Amino acid sequence: MPSSDSPSAAFSFVVVSNRLPVDRVVGPDGEPSFRTSPGGLVTALEPVMQQADGAWIGWTGQADDHVDPFEHDGIELIPVALSHDEVERYYEGFSNDTLWPLYHDVIAPPAYHREWWESYVTVNQRFADRAAEVTAEGGTVWVQDYQLQLVPKMLREKRPDLVIGFFNHIPFPAYGIYSQLPWRAQIIEGLLGADVIGFQRTADAGNFTRAVRRLTGYQSKGAVIDVPVEEPAAGVVEGATHRIARVRDGKLVRTVVAKAFPISIDAERYEELARRPDIQARAREIREGLGDPAIVMLGVDRLDYTKGIGHRLKAFGELVADGELDVEDVTLVQVASPSRERVRTYQMLRDEIELQVGRINGDYSTISHTAISYLHHGYPREEMVALYLAADVMLVTALRDGMNLVAKEYVASRFDNDGVLVLSEFAGASDELRTALRVNPHDIEGLKEAIMQATRMPKAERARRMRALRKRVQEYDVARWSSSFLEALATPAESLPLPKAD
Ligand code: G6P
Repeated sequence: MPSSDSPSAAFSFVVVSNRLPVDRVVGPDGEPSFRTSPGGLVTALEPVMQQADGAWIGWTGQADDHVDPFEHDGIELIPVALSHDEVERYYEGFSNDTLWPLYHDVIAPPAYHREWWESYVTVNQRFADRAAEVTAEGGTVWVQDYQLQLVPKMLREKRPDLVIGFFNHIPFPAYGIYSQLPWRAQIIEGLLGADVIGFQRTADAGNFTRAVRRLTGYQSKGAVIDVPVEEPAAGVVEGATHRIARVRDGKLVRTVVAKAFPISIDAERYEELARRPDIQARAREIREGLGDPAIVMLGVDRLDYTKGIGHRLKAFGELVADGELDVEDVTLVQVASPSRERVRTYQMLRDEIELQVGRINGDYSTISHTAISYLHHGYPREEMVALYLAADVMLVTALRDGMNLVAKEYVASRFDNDGVLVLSEFAGASDELRTALRVNPHDIEGLKEAIMQATRMPKAERARRMRALRKRVQEYDVARWSSSFLEALATPAESLPLPKAD
């Protein structure tokens, strides 16, 4: 039950994520304040939060930052503090140097350290405790992403009355890879504390369900998994809540649903920005600044080894070297926003990419034309939309990516039905964006061919493909994503199919 030291009343809808949806900014007077971060999740959930008396639990992004709960843009934000040691072990360590590489098909080797795991457990417990304190009786808690996979079970143990959802924003790997994890069973049990577990792709949900079967032997049918309730906690009786309790072979089981809910963006907002005259003027200015090349290519990524930036640069560099592309006519703009800079693998990646960019530019740039404009910065949304409008070809060449929202942002911004999207089949977005030029980024020859096809594509074909892409992104926007997840969460167990007994 909500405790007396709750920040205010008890909340009926609570989102829990590693980071709060705000960035700390320091004003000209030196005073720190918070600004809504550009991510789409907060836009999607804002209406739900305001309607349902919502709160958001998360970290401010700084070590040892003890901030009291506060209201921001109509949402109650409840900060959870992490010590320096926890930032190192739970965030940089277990989340981003164990789980992140493991879940992205071991593109980089995951590190397994017992003290990182211990910190992960401690921090997950802290998030779960906070959620248990502030959520109203029978309320809904929606836990986000790989940093918090133990929270559903920890929360259910304290508050069996709650409806709990979990959404995994990154891929879930095949069992052959997942099984490396020394704590594989604990993570599966942690997730199974949720009523609905959402994934980006059908393949991710399948990988998860297979891992459940291998590690627990619980019965499942399609998206439905029956989890035995060992000792019904207080308040958990058959039929008492909408998700718990049906009797199978004389035993009480909870029904858990694991399926795909591909995330999206606020497509309308991107189109609105793209239609703004000042942003269109900025797009023209960007092209002029680049020396008015005939073709502008664009890559936009967090500087992360999963994004295939090196593969993209290799393909582009070879096309320039082969004389297929001429730097007088073609420029590649690569935005690589700084990310997880204290993690060694990321430091090494930065060195590699900057060496590669430097070599290509040194060999092929001219006084008046730069082969690659490399920008190691993050930009506000307005500037991103101007870049999308300025780009004839968008290159998304991830080696593995949960969804890749940049691909969707590009499409949503192109109300002129122009521009070509080159999209990796290893990004979740490729399940939906079928008329993009889909590539295997490991196949450098294939990637080069796709880039050339993009540069030569007739206008009518560009328009035909882009129209189909836009239709999809407009129909399946982030509001639809959150409402379909929350609807699934509200579906009573009785209306779900029964897994067959063996
Ligand atoms: C991915 C993850 C998010 C994470 C984001 C930025 O999109 O799915 O959970 O917040 O990267 O990474 P960071 O480590 O800076 O939060």
